[in-house]
Amino acid sequence: METKICVVGLGYVGLPLACLLSKEYKTFGFDVNTQKLEDLKNGVDITGEIKNLSECQIEYSDNPEIIQQANFIIVAVPTPIDDTKKPDLSLVKSATEIVGKNLTKGTIVVYESTVYPGCTEEVCLPILEAESSMQLGTDFKIGYSPERVNPGDKNHTIDKVIKVVAGSDNEALEKISEVYGKITKIHQASSIKVAEASKVIENVQRDLNIALMNELALIFDKLDIDTKEVIEAAGTKWNFNKYYPGLVGGHCIGIDPYYLTYKAEQVGYDSKVILAGRGVNESMITFVSDKLKSNKKILIMGLSFKENVPDVRNSKAVDLISKLKDTGHEVKGHDPLLNGMVLKLKNLILHLVKEDFLPEWPPEEKFDSIIMFSPHDVFKDSKYNLESLKSICTAEPVLFDLKGFYNKEEAEGVGFKYLTL
Ligand SMILES: NC(=O)c1ccc[n+]([C@@H]2O[C@H](COP(=O)([O-])OP(=O)(O)OC[C@H]3O[C@@H](n4cnc5c(N)ncnc54)[C@H](O)[C@@H]3O)[C@@H](O)[C@H]2O)c1
Repeated sequence: METKICVVGLGYVGLPLACLLSKEYKTFGFDVNTQKLEDLKNGVDITGEIKNLSECQIEYSDNPEIIQQANFIIVAVPTPIDDTKKPDLSLVKSATEIVGKNLTKGTIVVYESTVYPGCTEEVCLPILEAESSMQLGTDFKIGYSPERVNPGDKNHTIDKVIKVVAGSDNEALEKISEVYGKITKIHQASSIKVAEASKVIENVQRDLNIALMNELALIFDKLDIDTKEVIEAAGTKWNFNKYYPGLVGGHCIGIDPYYLTYKAEQVGYDSKVILAGRGVNESMITFVSDKLKSNKKILIMGLSFKENVPDVRNSKAVDLISKLKDTGHEVKGHDPLLNGMVLKLKNLILHLVKEDFLPEWPPEEKFDSIIMFSPHDVFKDSKYNLESLKSICTAEPVLFDLKGFYNKEEAEGVGFKYLTL
């Protein structure tokens, strides 16, 4: 039987995947966001991840019945946390209900959303069975294949990295391996739980490594030692892993650890190291804002959650703006990557930084301090050089260069007090 795929959720994960698969298989793309579907039909991908969208033969639809035409379904919808930092599975559950209602016999449903170990079988499977009135094994199968896509990273695209796959039985695993094996290299995990856990610990590990560097940065700040110089020196040892301090935002690294600690708690384990790391990473906002106590008016450059990505969701720049405003600062933001998106993301941007988003460079106002938050490549343009930055500042300004984008000596040379993490 011909394999026909439907990707449910066409975001940072689902769209590139659907695009690659469409070169091998008949591929449908289902999403609940009709505006996004309109854009995609017109060849526009606002995430900027897919450059040649017209080469992807995806049949887009917001009609759930399109799912019935597929016998291989991939679910890639968001898995955020709620206000109490617990997993918010509402979107996975609602997508699963839709899939269940439109499930046909013999279909395999593969989850790509990041979840805690056990979620696919304990939460999603019962919904699929209830909505479809079918049974796992005899009527349909499930699988899990975590995603490693790294927005803005053109080197580690799906086709170039190994993909972990798991199935509810051997037959499912073989089929899932065959499908993903057409587009990339695969690693077969022995169970869905193993595959789920493997994804979540990738981000737990990264979060903790950054947390350690953040803690060192807090200590070295008190000792008046330059953290990056210390890391460079220590990095000359063969088994020292170089990580750098930073504000951890985005949809993965700062979120996924809470999925694991939630599940750990459910089974009676109180995670200590993972949550301590989260605590340190979350505290960095206060460290940065405390350093700028005496600087009234601040400009933040690069508002997205990391460099070279036009995505402000879960950006710590947003939290930093709130924190600085709460402590009496006047804060404005500038981000050339978001200029074209201001209308598209109007509510989001306006909600986050209100009227304080400055699209033009150089801005006409003067600032007491500048924070280089997400150092996009566009900031390498000469119009963003240190002289230009200095020209929009009052006397004796601070440049808080979070990721060390500018050269310290050069920044001090043009008259900035230079800070970094
Ligand atoms: N973005 C990343 O870098 C990344 C990397 C690895 C894993 N993940 C994980 O992949 C999952 C998806 O993340 P993303 O960044 O692609 O999210 P996204 O927000 O970019 O896209 C998700 C899409 O799902 C759609 N959607 C929401 N509910 C739906 C429903 N019921 N039916 C159909 N579509 C629905 C949304 O409209 C949106 O287009 C998450 O679990 C995330 O943790 C993300």
